[in-house]
Amino acid sequence: MRPHLGVKEDGHLTIGGVDTVELAEEFGTPLYVVDEDRIRERYREFYRAFADLYPEVEIRYAYKANSTLAVLHILRQEGAGADVLSAGEIFLASKVGLSPDKIIFTGNNKTNEELELALEKGVTINFDSLHEMERLQRICSAKKKKAKVSFRVNPAVSPETHPHLATGLRESKFGIPAEQAMTAYTRAKEVEFFDVAGIHMHIGSQITSVDPFVEAATKLMDIAGELMDKGVELEFIDFGGGVGIRYERDKPYITPKDLAEALVPLVESKIDEHGLKKPILYFEPGRYIVGDAAILLARVSTIKETPFKKFIGVDAGFHVLLRPSFYGAYHETVVANKAGAPWEEKVDIAGNVCESGDILARDRVLPRIDEGDLIAFLDTGAYGIIMASRYNSRPLPAEVLVNRGEYDLIRERETFEDLIRGQRVPGRLR
Ligand SMILES: Cc1ncc(COP(=O)(O)O)c(C=O)c1O
Repeated sequence: MRPHLGVKEDGHLTIGGVDTVELAEEFGTPLYVVDEDRIRERYREFYRAFADLYPEVEIRYAYKANSTLAVLHILRQEGAGADVLSAGEIFLASKVGLSPDKIIFTGNNKTNEELELALEKGVTINFDSLHEMERLQRICSAKKKKAKVSFRVNPAVSPETHPHLATGLRESKFGIPAEQAMTAYTRAKEVEFFDVAGIHMHIGSQITSVDPFVEAATKLMDIAGELMDKGVELEFIDFGGGVGIRYERDKPYITPKDLAEALVPLVESKIDEHGLKKPILYFEPGRYIVGDAAILLARVSTIKETPFKKFIGVDAGFHVLLRPSFYGAYHETVVANKAGAPWEEKVDIAGNVCESGDILARDRVLPRIDEGDLIAFLDTGAYGIIMASRYNSRPLPAEVLVNRGEYDLIRERETFEDLIRGQRVPGRLR
């Protein structure tokens, strides 16, 4: 069991000291439940791992992992900046009160409107392509406004993760190839409206070995060294996010400490080798900070036995939790009202979306399950609620924040009215 989860004498699963069965009764299902303390704990663990070894470290939490406002406020209180990738995420970062110097904008295919907004707000703009740089140059010249910029460099390493989660392969759509870095920086340096401040990489997500980080960071530091020779001194080096979490207990994993112990000595030695001024090190963890802090609760509606399988049908599907269908992801499941009960049968937990790919958990050995039981999907804090949709015309779920026995509703369950909000039917169709 995770440190913030527990089982009461009556067999009810708890999170942050709160009974999940009671939460499901009060707020209905499907329901995301997030543990505030756990987010704080993971943030501090990540930050300390690096800050204990290096003087200047900044964490820019990756908003894409979970941008529920309450979560963003917790991280702001902890001192995190933001890694954002859309105008919407710039809006959210401003909304929670982050100052622009704590925000880096790393989207790909940024539109001119997004670039304009980022410029106006004064956030650091991390280019994904030379074309993007040229477009910002035009915008800056027209507005006579200066931008702090960096480039996302693709270091061409294999992060040994799911193909959908690998972003730093040679063929990947992200960043500029390492071979183009010199040209890109030389050109950017000539632009009077650019303050060329840093270099960035993000090689993928759910990475469970330090090796690809070390390989990619070595390349990045060598590029920083070459840039120094060409007169481009960098204020920050951003190593992106990607540290994986333990979805499956028996699979390999790494901790931020493992990564810091591998990365910081490398960075220090490259600083010496290339005679660099000590840069600030940025990290952009998303999953590591919020991933195991939340669970998803779903109610068993239907039980179906065929000669081949036993299906436990629940009131959630890939519209609520996409990861199993999209990435083939594994989420440990617990029968939340019978958490201590002995395991008795092997089942598939089927979602309620009308698609055959909508299986939330396959071949799980669980206690005997009855109609009305409550299933908890663990480790659903990252890329969970944020990827939820209204597919099959189901309103988005509610979200509750728990903390040391207390709880607050932080996202109301949507209603049917939300399904049609903003739509118009021309008079001739009525
Ligand atoms: C640019 C960037 N930074 C950070 C992250 C966060 O990654 P993770 O949640 O794996 O830490 C992502 C997500 O893939 C990303 O695209």
